[in-house]
Amino acid sequence: MEITFIGGGNMASAIIGGLLRESFDPRSICAVDIAAEQRAQLVERYSINAVAAIDDAVPLGSTIIMAVKPQHMKAAAQALAPLLKNEVVVSIAAGIRIEDLARWLGGHQRLIRCMPNTPALIGAGITAAHALPSVSTDQRAAAERILKAMGKVIWVAAEPLLDTVTAVSGSGPAYVFYFIESLRAAAVELGLTEQQASVLALETFLGSAKLAAQSTEDVATLRVRVTSKGGTTEAALASMARDQVRQAIIRGVRAAQERSHELGVELGKD
Ligand SMILES: NC(=O)c1ccc[n+]([C@@H]2O[C@H](COP(=O)([O-])OP(=O)(O)OC[C@H]3O[C@@H](n4cnc5c(N)ncnc54)[C@H](OP(=O)(O)O)[C@@H]3O)[C@@H](O)[C@H]2O)c1
Repeated sequence: MEITFIGGGNMASAIIGGLLRESFDPRSICAVDIAAEQRAQLVERYSINAVAAIDDAVPLGSTIIMAVKPQHMKAAAQALAPLLKNEVVVSIAAGIRIEDLARWLGGHQRLIRCMPNTPALIGAGITAAHALPSVSTDQRAAAERILKAMGKVIWVAAEPLLDTVTAVSGSGPAYVFYFIESLRAAAVELGLTEQQASVLALETFLGSAKLAAQSTEDVATLRVRVTSKGGTTEAALASMARDQVRQAIIRGVRAAQERSHELGVELGKD
């Protein structure tokens, strides 16, 4: 499998690093990046090919990963359009809708749109992807193999669900950081040092997430198990329920989903 990356920044580097860790041949990877410094870094770090313009990447690989910032997608797609044949184009750009990308690519239909998240930078991401029907089973499998270099991959049946994915796992790391910050603030307010508070909050989150991931039981069951009748956890959860914390989280995620939809419309304007 040969792969061409358009945009060789943070996310492309995360994917390339992951592929090479799985013994992918660096000579099968070409990255197109307009920034000379970025190209030099890619060559030095990964020994892949790096070129300044898409015309220098011909023949293109069977899979093309578009990894430029959303506001650069239109220009990058329009430069790619005349060179396309049957390749599958995978976009990881947040918010760019398939219909807009297809239009900028001159009607190309072998398209996959996905939404990774920041933990992808350390191979611990979760990516959701949606493929158009013209993407073959083999192309989908090839794309999944590449995306797995960033972590886990799920497929969604309808593109609008990617707005929900954006609101849940795309923005999700910020919610997790907010929760850790809040727990740390509580610890400091109740007498612990900043350092103690930080380690307690972070390790509690890390350990609980690992426990949930390894357990065969649902998180709700795990929560009930640490909530003894009349105990401390029950007191905290009752207080949070009175403050409607869960409803507030759902409202927040809904706001993110609506914003994701609006951004898609704005980014798709010609
Ligand atoms: N970071 C995340 O967690 C995350 C999560 C979900 C989705 N994404 C998506 O991933 C994409 C890439 O993000 P990133 O953080 O990796 O971006 P980045 O670090 O800015 O990398 C993009 C690279 O592409 C170059 N570039 C710009 N226009 C180009 C063109 N027409 N042809 C070739 N190269 C071009 C940029 O050069 P210049 O710097 O000179 O412009 C830059 O070196 C974004 O669309 C983002 O929405 C990221």
